[in-house]
Amino acid sequence: MKKSDTPTNPTMMKPEDIQLTVIVDNTPLPGFNSEHGFSLWIEAGGSTLLFDTGRATAFSANLRLLEIELAKANMLVLSHGHYDHTGGVATVLSEVPGMKVCMHPGALTRRWSIREGVAKPTDMPDECKEAIRALAPSQILSATGPIEILPDIWVTGPVPRLSEFEDPGGPFFLDTEGNIPDPIEDDLSLWIKTAEGLVIIAGCCHSGLVNTINHIRSVSGEERIVSVVGGLHLSSASSERLEKTVTALEKFPIGRIHTSHCTGSDATELFRKRLDCPVSSTAAGLRFTP
Ligand SMILES: [Fe+2]
Ligand SMILES: [Fe+2]
Repeated sequence: MKKSDTPTNPTMMKPEDIQLTVIVDNTPLPGFNSEHGFSLWIEAGGSTLLFDTGRATAFSANLRLLEIELAKANMLVLSHGHYDHTGGVATVLSEVPGMKVCMHPGALTRRWSIREGVAKPTDMPDECKEAIRALAPSQILSATGPIEILPDIWVTGPVPRLSEFEDPGGPFFLDTEGNIPDPIEDDLSLWIKTAEGLVIIAGCCHSGLVNTINHIRSVSGEERIVSVVGGLHLSSASSERLEKTVTALEKFPIGRIHTSHCTGSDATELFRKRLDCPVSSTAAGLRFTP
């Protein structure tokens, strides 16, 4: 894999050329709607992407409030198949029938979370799966490995699960009896290569934040991290996992962290206390430069 270009390369994107808009998050800015889920509008250099679609209601309402025109997106990227990231897929594809969709094929898997013996479906709503299955093959980009989807914008595909302290982060199963654990192998993150390093964007980060960062640094050949943005799925993590995560993060050159969605307040607070970089939480309606 080719090493990333030097910071002086004038053709490379700068972090300030990127604008992120949070369409869906668990908490809103005043005047916006929230739901348990995540959706991010990414404008980076000359490219525009919709990353996840929230759960449904807040997604549609906030799109109108933010005056986002879905037709301007070059592509819809799905971080994984959970309902809180894919509930707006049918809305997007009915408004923009020609939209390209980048996802791992496993995002269409039937799956459940099981708590106190009760299985609750956590997969993509049926109408959204049908909308994806009705697309022309040329509209689907199958993220079974790392792909550069637009200039200097990549998705990871499946992330190797190498750290011994990270797991998918919940009681996730591929059956209603709880016999087949769901590794959520469709989980992927996105990165943007800039002249100052990587902007890493996660949906739920079921692969584990440390696994994800290590994989992206290895594939991209770039070690510097401008920022990490998104759902980091640490809300139900043990104190041991949180400690091991923050200890690993202390060794990475990270410029800033923006936590969203399923990161959890304990993880955000711990990052604030222990890491040298600024750590802030996002909210639906927030526009920012990473
Ligand atoms: Fe999520
Ligand atoms: Fe998830």
